[in-house]
Amino acid sequence: MFSSLAETPNNICGVSLIASGSSTPHQRLTNDQIGMRVETDDSWIRSRTGIGARHVVGSHESLSGLGYAASANALAMAGWDPESLDLIVLATSTPDDLFGSAPKVQAQLGAINAVAFDLTAACSGFLFALVTAAQYLRVGAMKRALVIGADQLTSWVDWDDRRSCVLFGDGAGAVALEASHFKNDDILGFQLKTDGSRGESLNLPSVPNLNPLIDGISYQKGCFSTIQMNGQEVYKFAVREVPLILEKLLLKTSVKTEQLDWLLLHQANKRILDSVAERLSIPSHKVLSNLSDYGNTSAATIPLMLDEAVRDGRIKSGNLIASSGFGAGLSWGASIFRWKGPV
Ligand code: UT7
Repeated sequence: MFSSLAETPNNICGVSLIASGSSTPHQRLTNDQIGMRVETDDSWIRSRTGIGARHVVGSHESLSGLGYAASANALAMAGWDPESLDLIVLATSTPDDLFGSAPKVQAQLGAINAVAFDLTAACSGFLFALVTAAQYLRVGAMKRALVIGADQLTSWVDWDDRRSCVLFGDGAGAVALEASHFKNDDILGFQLKTDGSRGESLNLPSVPNLNPLIDGISYQKGCFSTIQMNGQEVYKFAVREVPLILEKLLLKTSVKTEQLDWLLLHQANKRILDSVAERLSIPSHKVLSNLSDYGNTSAATIPLMLDEAVRDGRIKSGNLIASSGFGAGLSWGASIFRWKGPV
């Protein structure tokens, strides 16, 4: 890591996406199996969401464990020594330590020269973290970063609420970023947005749990509810805001939709993916989706999908990708980037 900006060659660098990794829990829960718990069935879930199964963190597994496994896979693809990392940003809303899970991942990796911290922006978290990490590289302050999206929402859903419990699953994905010459910047542009006034459409609030401390003084013991979601409101928000932010970004970056190789959206609902693609006139064969196998893994969906498509050869070096994340906050964001791959 450069110790001061003055030492950098020109202070403005580009950013390359070098490698990816992912990890999902061992346990797989099908739609039919959810039907054994609440009144629902495979055909309703598939037709309304595109989801067929999801993975659920079980015994001997954890959020930081998934983040570590995804990161180790990305480092192996990049061929990087963990000690060469300067930065680890872990996007998660479900840390296994409220003070942050990123340092745990750092320790497991042996990334002794990196600084590691969590970033919370729900299902938009990966894109927010990608943009955040890219800024450290751009100004020349750091050279190598790992951006992780990981979530374990199955711990926070109400498993008796069929309107929401069918949607979510657990997983982690990671992307390795490297500073490059400023002329070779592979992140062509980004837009990030939040609107807290609409936050109640999807949230996971703390609940008042007042306890007496001593005479005349009480304290609020930490306690959270389960996921609260107005599905129809979130659906309307997504199909309205995601095409808009992508259209603006395409304009800003002077990229034409025909130039895009892939549309990589937060995997929330197949109907949302189809609607956004139709609005942008992007043909369905360019729309990446693995909802049927994993459901909505929140901050993990984008890097999990990216890694799958990189490893099976769909995403090739030089491919141009438009990506958008959206969800609780409400938050949403988009980025257009080029995949470089290992060098
Ligand atoms: O990262 C962002 C996370 N959130 C989202 O992406 C949520 C976005 N919203 C959605 O994906 C959709 O709104 C849902 C998939 C959640 C729901 O689909 P919908 O087409 O909006 O269904 P709905 O809420 O309008 O419900 C239609 C019917 C209702 O029955 P009645 O009142 O018409 O008799 C529900 O009770 O479907 C019923 N229903 C179910 N039936 C079987 C709701 N959930 C289920 C279920 N199984 N799991």
